Amino acid sequence: MIQDILTDGIGLPVAKHSLRKGIILAGGTGSRLFPITHSVCKQLVPVYDKPMIYYPLAALMLAGVRDILVIVNPEDIGLFSRLLGDGSQWGLDIYYAEQERPDGLAQAFLIGEEFIDGDPVCLVLGDNLFHGDGLADLLLAVSERSEGATIFGCRVEYPERYGVIDFDGDGVALSLEEKPEYPKSNFAVPGIYFFDHKVVDYAKMLEPSPRGELEITDLNRLYLERGELRVEILDESIVWFDTGVPDALADATRFVQQIQQRDGFKIACPEEIALSQGRIDRSRLGDALAKYQGTPYGDYLETL
Ligand code: DAU
Repeated sequence: MIQDILTDGIGLPVAKHSLRKGIILAGGTGSRLFPITHSVCKQLVPVYDKPMIYYPLAALMLAGVRDILVIVNPEDIGLFSRLLGDGSQWGLDIYYAEQERPDGLAQAFLIGEEFIDGDPVCLVLGDNLFHGDGLADLLLAVSERSEGATIFGCRVEYPERYGVIDFDGDGVALSLEEKPEYPKSNFAVPGIYFFDHKVVDYAKMLEPSPRGELEITDLNRLYLERGELRVEILDESIVWFDTGVPDALADATRFVQQIQQRDGFKIACPEEIALSQGRIDRSRLGDALAKYQGTPYGDYLETL
């Protein structure tokens, strides 16, 4: 597994780790963005200059993932495959699967059972955006763990909108709750999760919650109860957005615009990440250069 990653592309090291597989969950109704998402799939809506799904895709690439399963609503498969293709342009293998109904985030592991095939896997939600200097190092470090699960904690103002994790005085995780009315802490659990080979078995143990969904928080709690859950706190150097509501979408758009204009590089440009990780060499950029010629994105690719 390590060898496969090390010899990818032009042979530069991507990562010395065992995680090869990732899932992007990009279904759901997007109802909190209605009417924007009434007839357009949420994860294809722009966050400044890229489709939303580029951001979780970039997170998986930074984590060193090579094989990606994109889970989407049945009617949207054509749209996603037109955008992302088979992934070879970025040194990836991208596969697609359908989720018939939005029956919960943890259903991703039942849908993806064959793809996972007993390996560790990282799940990222299709509307989550992560950015920060230490992000790649953190994701790579976490992806080296082959046992248990790792989730993250991020201090937020309104924890009741998210999965919430509570700690004791020594920083040991005590409890996990999904959108609690009275949160026990200000630490939300962002939508990126690393699981070991047991994830499918654990997902099969879940019962639908009162709202009828297989909850990712219940899955994480199974790991917690067995002493198999690690929690990494995201410090201020890492920014996280759940872009599924209008204000957060606008905030994320502003953030990407400001950072890109200030620093002169793009956040979540898969071509750039693929090049810098040695997944592809410059000759593989040809298709993208031709496709985006004369556009701001194409001009940026020219500079790589
Ligand atoms: O963003 C982080 C939060 O994501 C976590 O803190 C929560 O614990 C977790 O439950 C989730 O909460 P959300 O309310 O944001 O989940 P939402 O229903 O919006 O789904 C997240 C994404 O997954 C969204 O892009 C739609 C997609 N989705 C959702 C469901 C329920 C699916 O593709 N299939 C589904 O069945």
